[in-house]
Amino acid sequence: MSDRRPYIAGNWKMHKTGREAEDFLWALLPQISGEDHAEVVICAPFTALVNLIDGSRGSRVKVAAQNMHQAEAGAFTGEVSAGMLSELDVRAVVLGHSERRQYFNETDAALAEKLPAALAAGIEPIFCVGETEAEREAGQMQDVLRRQVTEGLAGVPAGQLPAIVVAYEPVWAIGTGKVATTEQAQEAIAFIRELIAGIDAAAAPQVRILYGGSVKPDNAAELLSQPDIDGALIGGASLDPGDFAALVAAGDAA
Ligand code: 13P
Repeated sequence: MSDRRPYIAGNWKMHKTGREAEDFLWALLPQISGEDHAEVVICAPFTALVNLIDGSRGSRVKVAAQNMHQAEAGAFTGEVSAGMLSELDVRAVVLGHSERRQYFNETDAALAEKLPAALAAGIEPIFCVGETEAEREAGQMQDVLRRQVTEGLAGVPAGQLPAIVVAYEPVWAIGTGKVATTEQAQEAIAFIRELIAGIDAAAAPQVRILYGGSVKPDNAAELLSQPDIDGALIGGASLDPGDFAALVAAGDAA
């Protein structure tokens, strides 16, 4: 860790209704009310956002969406804009998650527009990058990360990089129980920080970079102890309030 504030984000993916989100908060909040060193973020389905925002007012939980469209408005059936999210008090948004890249045709070019659109609406982008298993085995990890980082960040206005949170999520470690080793995670994240330094040297030490992929209460502390790993983006283990509280505690201790 560094003096960058730890960032513990749960990505619920397509789990939990609004009512289930309220039940989750009811169980979580008493467990995380103490020290508040780490930032705590829940990335929820659109339909649970209002329940979470209403239920978490006055707490340390920040509510995030999992996707948005880059345009302000338009004929884009089924999509949601940054302005629509910010009016609800949504404060962050996951952009470029590998599941969106893989199943919903999310492209680097669209991300280059989505990041500035989120920033312009005052919403913090949680920008995800990461290689597949085949890419890693073919020795292409750095090339893939270079393309995703440089193309995805291409539209971010000068000086605004520190407002972005980056998440390194190797696709082979997501939902597989196959966590990257601490060394693999640190190495890839340090490389991403170098790439960011190539765009803006002053911003790179300020940008928080998270690791994601099979993070659990029993492996979080070791990952967070690495010099370049500033937090975690957590899927499965964020669905249980007890596990998520333990992950927040690991962030507070980092
Ligand atoms: P898991 O923690 O379930 O592996 O998911 C990681 C992830 O994709 C978070 O965005």
